[in-house]
Amino acid sequence: MKTLITGGTVVGPLGATPTDVLVDGETIAALYAPGAAAAAGVTADNVIDATGKYVVPGGVDVHTHMQLPFGGTFASDTFETGTIAAAWGGTTTIIDFAVQRTGEVVQDGLAAWHAKADGRCAIDYGFHMIIGGVDDEALKAMDHLVEHEGITSFKLFMAYPGVFYSDDGQILRAMQKATDNGALIMMHAENGIAIDVLAAQALARGETDPVYHGITRPSALEGEATHRAAVLAQVAGNTPLYFVHMSASEALAVVSAARAAGRNVFAETCPQYLYLTLEDQLGAPGFEGAKWVASPPLRPRDESHRDDLWRGLRTDDLAVVSTDHCPFCFKDQKELGRGDFTKIPNGIGTVEHRMDLVYQGVVTGRLSLQRWVETCSTTPARMFGLYPKKGIIAPGSDADIVIYDPTATTTIGVATHHMNMDHSAWEGFEIAGRVDTVLSRGSVVISDNAFHGRPGHGQYLRRGLSQYLR
Ligand code: URP
Ligand code: ZN
Ligand code: ZN
Repeated sequence: MKTLITGGTVVGPLGATPTDVLVDGETIAALYAPGAAAAAGVTADNVIDATGKYVVPGGVDVHTHMQLPFGGTFASDTFETGTIAAAWGGTTTIIDFAVQRTGEVVQDGLAAWHAKADGRCAIDYGFHMIIGGVDDEALKAMDHLVEHEGITSFKLFMAYPGVFYSDDGQILRAMQKATDNGALIMMHAENGIAIDVLAAQALARGETDPVYHGITRPSALEGEATHRAAVLAQVAGNTPLYFVHMSASEALAVVSAARAAGRNVFAETCPQYLYLTLEDQLGAPGFEGAKWVASPPLRPRDESHRDDLWRGLRTDDLAVVSTDHCPFCFKDQKELGRGDFTKIPNGIGTVEHRMDLVYQGVVTGRLSLQRWVETCSTTPARMFGLYPKKGIIAPGSDADIVIYDPTATTTIGVATHHMNMDHSAWEGFEIAGRVDTVLSRGSVVISDNAFHGRPGHGQYLRRGLSQYLR
């Protein structure tokens, strides 16, 4: 089956160029200057007119949590509902986090994630591994996963004591292992020990509302943990280190300094930290703010964080935008924390909206078209060993393609989204632009405002080492 996409402007890391794209089967076969395909007598079974639209590589969201057990419940999207929602939003690859907890065998945690995902995903998917209990067995398992399972990145937590938390000695040992085997350490950098003290003190004062989740996790404690992790990585031999869900100016300053010193330090941020605030969302009246409880928390409106994060995306100190998609319904899930903010399941659902929300940076002049594509697709693919199969429109690459209409508009809301959530963290957001058509490995999965894909189409991706390492 051949598909020819005509009349569009292909956007990639090198710029935006009017180009026709020929897809043959699951991959991109050729690129043509406008009209050159017809002149060369190229025929196709399916011709898609992309006149006036951008043709961009499918989004790669490297931070999702489908069905994550958290706070006595499970993230509400399954691999089926979550990947269908991702496709609607122009994301054609996710990397989710398999989980090992203290005392569990890493390979068992991985098998549990395959059992949840395999045969159910509508788009391609890979896994990182959360190492919640760093011990001799887990360290050995890291080698096994890199060599045999296509899992080349491991998340550690400086937050959530008693759940996923690793102490500095455990972190150092895991980093030393990654220095040896080339894996990337992904770090949740918040000082969880100090945060737990502040949270207990707040509860003792009767401060139970969702906003205290943010007040007891100050940005200084993200900055401190980021600095500590960067130092530990340096001591461990310039371990490749990638900070997840960065929200704070102090943390970004640490990354900028480490990168200026030539170290293997990278970071991502998420749309919630670019747009939403402690006062406007987390501080919403009554218990409403629970919808926006996530860690790290939304930051104060009048501090520098959002502006600094946008700047970091421009300058490449922030390499990637992921979602940290971790959806919980308000009813029966977020409500578990009524009267005690520490019991609100942590997470926000955004997997469907990342391409749209970051594109608003192009509309407002904060980002170039190329940076939109780089931060949402090309760089995440390279960072996590998927390039050039993913992340680029080029001959030989998978035909994961988004046709994006910059003249259309979208209003985000629970009535129209496809995530398995009873509310939207983005209710009423007006988007200039719209995902028009999405191809996943050559198959049209979204067009004419309908989903044409199927659960099980998505394939498991065995990933190589990060392609950014020196
Ligand atoms: O609040 C969040 N971020 N929930 C998901 C787990 C994590 O720390 O990424
Ligand atoms: Zn985290
Ligand atoms: Zn996360």
